[in-house]
Amino acid sequence: MLEFQNVTFRYPEDKEPILENLSFQVKDGDFASIIGSSGCGKSTIFRLINGLEKPQQGQILVNGEPIEKQRRYTAFMPQKDLLFPWCTIEKNLTLPMELQKIPKEEQKKQCTAVLEQIGMTEYRNKYPRELSGGMKQRVAFARTLLAGGSLLLLDEPFSALDFLTRVEMQEWILEQWSYWNKTILFITHDVEEAIFLSNIIFTIQECPFSTMKAVNVPLQYPRNREDLRKSDITQLKETLIRQLRKKEML
Ligand SMILES: Nc1ncnc2c1ncn2[C@@H]1O[C@H](COP(=O)(O)OP(=O)(O)O)[C@@H](O)[C@H]1O
Ligand SMILES: [Mg+2]
Repeated sequence: MLEFQNVTFRYPEDKEPILENLSFQVKDGDFASIIGSSGCGKSTIFRLINGLEKPQQGQILVNGEPIEKQRRYTAFMPQKDLLFPWCTIEKNLTLPMELQKIPKEEQKKQCTAVLEQIGMTEYRNKYPRELSGGMKQRVAFARTLLAGGSLLLLDEPFSALDFLTRVEMQEWILEQWSYWNKTILFITHDVEEAIFLSNIIFTIQECPFSTMKAVNVPLQYPRNREDLRKSDITQLKETLIRQLRKKEML
C-alpha cells in the first residue's frame, strides 16, 4: 500500500538529514501508528507522503506506483480541525469536492452518506463554533474521507481533546476505519492510544533516524478497553515506553 524505499530527506536550512535511508511498508488495510518524541520527524514523514516535501534520495510508492505520478492517493487530517468557521458543516464538507469540480448532485449525495455514517446528519446546517471538540474532529475526519484516496494520514488528531472525549474518539475511529475500508497511518505520542488502535506500531528511536522499529499488536478487532489490561499488552506498553525514553536520554 505504502512503501518508503531508502528515503533520505533534509530540510534546506539544516546541515544533517532528518531521516536517512529510511525504508518501511504499510500494508493495505493496516491501522499503523508512528510514535516518537516530539520534533523527531513524524510530521515530516507525512509531508513527504503527501508531496509537500520531496526526498533528496529514494522513492515513495503508494499502491506500487511512485507518488509523483499520482493524484488523490492520500488525504491528511491535522491535529487542529481547520474547519472554516464561516461555512456550515455541509459547506465545509463539500468545498474540497467543489474545488475538484465534482457535480453538485454528487457532492450532496456523498455529504449525506458521510454525515449519516458519522451520526451527524442533524448538524448539517450548523457552524463549527456550535460543535464540541470531538464533533469537530468527526467532521474533520469526514472531510478527510471525502477528499478521496485510500490512504489516510492522521497527525495526532485527538491530542487536543480531553481524556474522555479522546477515549470515545478512539473507539469511534476504529468503527469508521472498519466501515470505510481505508488504510490509516496515525501519528501519536500516546503509547496506549497507539496500542489500542493499531495492528502495527512503528517507533522512532533515534534522531536523525534511518530505521523505525515495527511491532505487531497481539490483539484482534473489534477491541475494547479491557484488552489493554492483558498482561502481554501491559508488557508491550512498558517495552515501548522504555524504547522511547532511551532515545530521550541520549
Ligand atoms: N517546514 C520546515 N522547515 C524546516 N524545518 C522544519 C520544518 N518542519 C519541521 N521542521 C523541523 O524538523 C524537525 C522535525 O519536525 P516534525 O516532523 O514536525 O517533528 P514531529 O512531528 O515528530 O514533532 C524539527 O526539528 C522541526 O523544527
Ligand atoms: Mg508533528
